[in-house]
Amino acid sequence: MDKRRDYDWYPTPYWCIHRLLERFKLPGGLWLEPCAGDGAIIKAVSEVRDDFRWNAVEIQAVAAPLLRPLCPSVVITDFLTWQHPTPLPVGVLTNPPYTLSLQFVEHCLSMVRRYVIMLMPLTFLASKDRNDFLQANPPSVFPLPNRPSFTHKGSGMTEYGFFAWDKQRIAKKKHYGLVIPLAKTSKAEIAYYKKRQYGAHQPPLLPSGIFGEKT
Ligand SMILES: C[S@@+](CC[C@H](N)C(=O)[O-])C[C@H]1O[C@@H](n2cnc3c(N)ncnc32)[C@H](O)[C@@H]1O
Repeated sequence: MDKRRDYDWYPTPYWCIHRLLERFKLPGGLWLEPCAGDGAIIKAVSEVRDDFRWNAVEIQAVAAPLLRPLCPSVVITDFLTWQHPTPLPVGVLTNPPYTLSLQFVEHCLSMVRRYVIMLMPLTFLASKDRNDFLQANPPSVFPLPNRPSFTHKGSGMTEYGFFAWDKQRIAKKKHYGLVIPLAKTSKAEIAYYKKRQYGAHQPPLLPSGIFGEKT
């Protein structure tokens, strides 16, 4: 069995982000990636939009040189103990460490002007621990018909989707808690991004040691 990487470092395949953005017309402006990894989400967004600006937070210091060329503000810290300075971002778009997902969602909601959007396993919905929160704050869910793989090997085993909280709509109790299936992705597109993100054979996307070190 694969040993889980320290801090759940699993870069998001670009095609997942492209499926979301072609269906959900998000506003540009300042966005936050609160656990940015190597910046995969920032890079995927910038392939199709030029009106997003980013602040990035990441707990692993080895990510800093990968993130700095992508956004002017990179903070290496535990996001759960950090507060966003003003001006606050329009939204958060991320794939959080799954074991901390509820804490991430709650902390993000405290600092965005409008959207918190998280790529997570669909099982996020079915949980006694999260039930009180979900009843009070039902997200809209954008399921991905293809299972993403977060490694260079094989295909994914888990169904994922984007979970979107829109503070404005929740406050007005209007059009939230919807299910909006995203479009299918071709095998060719998945293979193309797998090769671009992981190389033809093995990971070397990230500097050596990045999977094994705590900073
Ligand atoms: C599933 S990966 C996703 C990375 C990136 N968001 C993406 O979608 O490609 C989760 C990331 O969260 C980072 N992380 C874990 N705990 C964190 C924390 N408390 N604060 C900030 N980042 C954290 C990990 O180092 C890792 O880069």
